[in-house]
Parts: sequence; structure tokens; C-alpha cells
Amino acid sequence: MSHDWYRDAVFYEVFVRAFADSNGDGIGDLPGLTSKLDYLRWLGVDAIWMLPICPSPLRDDGYDVSDYFDVHPDYGALADVRRLIEEAHQRGLRIIVELIPNHTSDQNAWFQASRDPSHPQHERYRDWYVWSDTDQKYADTRIIFLDYEPSNWTRDALRGQYYWHRFFHHQPDLNYDNPEVQRAMLRVVQFWMDLGVDGFRVDATPYLYEREGTSCENLPETHAYLKRLRKFVDAYAPGTMLLSEANQWPEDVRPYFGDGDEFHMNFHFPLMPRLFMALARADRTPLVQILARTPPLPDGCQWATFLRCHDELTLEMVTDEERQFLWDFYAPQPRMRLNLGIRRRLAPLLDNDRARLELANSLLFTLPGAPVIYYGDEIGMGDNIWLDDRDGVRTPMQWDSGPNAGFSAAAPDNLYAPVIEDSTYGPQQVNVANQQAAPGSLLHTMRRMIGVRKQHSAFGRGNFAWVEADSKAVAAYLRSHDGERLLIVNNLSPHPQSVTLTASGLPSAALLDLLTGEYLPSSQQGQLALALHPYQYLWLKIQDTLGYGLHG
Ligand code: GLC
Repeated sequence: MSHDWYRDAVFYEVFVRAFADSNGDGIGDLPGLTSKLDYLRWLGVDAIWMLPICPSPLRDDGYDVSDYFDVHPDYGALADVRRLIEEAHQRGLRIIVELIPNHTSDQNAWFQASRDPSHPQHERYRDWYVWSDTDQKYADTRIIFLDYEPSNWTRDALRGQYYWHRFFHHQPDLNYDNPEVQRAMLRVVQFWMDLGVDGFRVDATPYLYEREGTSCENLPETHAYLKRLRKFVDAYAPGTMLLSEANQWPEDVRPYFGDGDEFHMNFHFPLMPRLFMALARADRTPLVQILARTPPLPDGCQWATFLRCHDELTLEMVTDEERQFLWDFYAPQPRMRLNLGIRRRLAPLLDNDRARLELANSLLFTLPGAPVIYYGDEIGMGDNIWLDDRDGVRTPMQWDSGPNAGFSAAAPDNLYAPVIEDSTYGPQQVNVANQQAAPGSLLHTMRRMIGVRKQHSAFGRGNFAWVEADSKAVAAYLRSHDGERLLIVNNLSPHPQSVTLTASGLPSAALLDLLTGEYLPSSQQGQLALALHPYQYLWLKIQDTLGYGLHG
């Protein structure tokens, strides 16, 4: 397999807690995930990104790490990680783990020693976190968890000082001005590379350093450290992939790729809300605008694209007006809103409309970038907005229509979170087993899309160019690579569209529909007239040479 495998890969994001419970304690675990690898191979994904699995008080589902060098007992032990990696590799699947460098849990031994002057290790750890006598420093820095935190500073009574935190107050930020901290995080990375992981999803990368008079985001010092991290990884375990979570504008994310010497991948955050905007308005303009604002990447780099993830659908990277529109359209009830975003899953966001769900995924799979699927979205799982924080999009995976949706043998009261129970999205209606058995299901469509994508490197590596379409409701583009050219057509509208596509690169050609295996009538020189159904999408391969069996 090639060293830049991630450019062609389809990623699958798993919350281990939610996926499969092997020991009946009501909590998903690593052996449970291992037992589902055959399902993921069947689905066709290439890499599994696991949410945090380290010991943690779980006040932020593991993004509050209390020990970087072990596994949370709920999930198993280090031996279970080794086994998962081994079994995954046997099936050609990669394992990506979380690296959370910016902050720890306040229960982490490092912080306990840092905050407590009478702790035997206090001297050593005193400057591992960002302490201050006042809470007035770095006043230009925004607050991220607006619904929960009034300030980025919290006072610690024991130490008698304030500590800095960009997220929850129980997640103190590490002090990267301290060389010991810089080294400690490299040791964490080394530990997980020793276990054989294929890559890291690196959490909250923009916030490592603080400097007065700045937003404390994207600082040069932060990039310098991230480059050092990359160098270390390249030297220690070449081929290990680094994917950064920087929720920023494209021009601010671009530096996280460096000159190909920082991250291999970054999430494309601003594209995501614009996919929903384009759908809501039946207008490709938001996509055109954001892709025009997206700089080219250095060789060997790739965007990670997504529709939904484990967090709220963030609306940070849109204007105030756009945010209001998206809130009104997709989150009409106040409870659906969280921080600057929306706590809903993909299927409920799109009214469980099969055609819209497929279209959204068509965009995800065909625009530039490597797609990341959120667990459960391949079957159209629902959400529970009444659960706390983001818990409503992290409910148990629905495997079948049996007790606890096949997720766990525990008594229902003992599950870490309730299974979705409603007449539309409950396990009677939405589950893997039913959809695997039904060739017309969403799951089978997703599997076909993934399979087709994997056969054509133009999706992961190809150039991207818009094709002129005389309806703004149609998003049509060419993806070309190595002599292969794909024409992708998406009708963003709930209405049929008669559209004419014009492109100099669109010759009299046979067009093979990659999803159905059928040919379209050949186009006239440079033009193609199409009658599209509501939300129809076409993935067409342009075949210049007219051969036998056309129009068949
Ligand atoms: C990232 C994670 C989110 C977490 C936060 C703090 O944004 O995606 O789930 O709460 O970092 O670690």
C-alpha cells in the first residue's frame, strides 16, 4: 500500500463507548469494536478513527485525559489495543487514535502536582500548566464552549492562582513554553506508535501557545512545535499519518500543512456548513465560494471532509447571518442548538429524506478531500437532543432490532446512554441487520458509493474544476487524474431540473454512469443536456473513445 494511502481513504469515526459492548456492562469496548471489524471491512472503509480511549473522568468523553499511557478500564486494556490493531491490519484496515496535546483533565497527575504546593512532585510540575495571578491576561481570546464557560481562566484555591483553559474549566491547558511539556507530548506519541497505530487525529491544534495581544490561535510558536512533532513521527515511525483538527478559515488552516512538513491532513471545517447551506438554498454558490477560498495543498497532503461528527455541527466558520439562517432552517427548536452549533445527526437534519441523504453523501464522496463517515450515519441513525451536551449524537450503535439494538446484553438501565427510541429512528426501523439484508437500503447505497470511489483515484487525487451549469441548483464538476476524467452532477433541489452543462473539456463522449454501470447518451460537442430528478446525483466517467456497447 502506498505511503500516502490517506489521500484515497474513506475514514470511519467510532465512539468506542457507543459501538459494541463485549462484556455486558452496558459500555462499548475495544473487544466489541474488534468484533465488528468484518462489518467495517464489508462496508469498505479504510481507516477507523477512534475517539479517546485513555483513562479519563469522562467529563468530556475522554478529551479530558488523566493518563496518556493507558486505556480506560471501561474499554479494556493495552493488550486489547494491540489485538484491535493486529486484527484491523489483517483486514487491511488502519487504526487512528486521538492525540490531545492542548490540555489534560484536572485529574491528571501532572495537574495534581502542579496545583498543589505540598505535593512531593510540585517543583517538577509547577510550570506544566498556564498559571497566572490575574484572569485578565490574553483578553483577546474567544471562549469556545460558550454555553458552559464564562471565562478561559479558572481560579484554583489550592495554588491560589488562575489556570488557563480553552475548553471546559476541568481541562487545564498545558504550558508549551515549558520544554518538559514539549518533550512529554512526544513521549505520548512515541508510546502509541510503539503500539502500532497508523496515525493520530490531533485535537485542538491551534491553541498550544498563548501570547499577549493575539487571539492565542495559530501562533508561529504553535506551528513550530507541530513541525517538530511531525519530524519526530517521520523519524520514529515513518508513514504514521497526522490529521489536525483546526476549526479555522481555509487560509488559516493552510499553514498547518506547512511545506508538506507539518500535518498530512486537516479537516475542512468551513466546507461542512456550506454543504448544508447549499442543500437548504438549492444553490451551489456557498460551495463555489468556499472552494475558491481554499488554497492548493503541498504534495502528499489531503483535506478530511465530513458532514457530521461527534461534536455539534459547528457554525463558527460562517457569518452571523448565515449562522442565523442555518439555525432557523436546521435547528428550529432552541434545544437543538448548542454553543455556536447544532446538536443533531445527519438523518434528522435532512428530515430522514432518503434522496437528500444520498445527495449529501454524493457531495461528500466526490468533492476534493477524503471523506470521514460518522458511525451510525451509514444507516441513518437518529439523535436525542434531550441528552446533555453532545451526548445526543453519541448513542448506542443500532445493530439489530433486538434488545438494546444489539449493542449490549446489559439491562437497559445499565447502558451508558439510552438507545434511540422513537417511531422513526428506533432500532425497529433503523438497524444494520435489516439494511444489510435489503439491497435497496441506505447502507447498501453507502457501500456502493465507497466501493466506486475506491476504484477511481480521481476522487482522492484528481484536479477539481467546476462545470458551467445553467441552473444554480446544480453542482457539476470534473475530477481528473492520470488521464481519467469524472463528471459529477448533483441536483441540490427538491425539484426536477433541466440543465445544460457546458465545458470545453466535455467532448462528444460516452458517459458511463459509475453507480449503475449504464451509459448515458453521448453529449454534443462541449455541451450536455440533462433532465435531473429531485436531488439526483450522477457520477459519470468520460470515455473519449467511442467503443462497442454504448447506449446499452
Ligand atoms: C475537540 C473535540 C471535542 C472536545 C474538544 C476539547 O474539539 O472534538 O469533542 O470537547 O476538542 O478537547
